[in-house]
Amino acid sequence: MIKRAQPYKRQIYICINNRQGESPSCGYSGSEEVVEELKKVCKELNLKGKIRVAKSGCMDLCAFGPNMMIWPDGLWYMKVTKENIPEIIATYLKLEEGDTNKTGASEIATGE
Ligand code: FES
Repeated sequence: MIKRAQPYKRQIYICINNRQGESPSCGYSGSEEVVEELKKVCKELNLKGKIRVAKSGCMDLCAFGPNMMIWPDGLWYMKVTKENIPEIIATYLKLEEGDTNKTGASEIATGE
């Protein structure tokens, strides 16, 4: 086993579990589209090494999908669409610049 500090400033996990409409699931609600947009925006902003985008399995909040969680901040976004991605990324870039106001993140998550 090798132990080390995490190699990325932030890791963004997006559930892609897809139950094909048999019951609510992130994959069936468009999470793959969210993943692709997130990767595209991170590439455009040259965030390699800063943000790692990872697909995940079910996070057990299926009815609120697509679900996204961000570490090490421990924040959770629900019902994310690809249109939310630029704003989510902008929020985290602001945090890296020293803006500690995380309310922007909750505003995005609730759609307020
Ligand atoms: S299917 Fe995404 S949280 Fe369960």
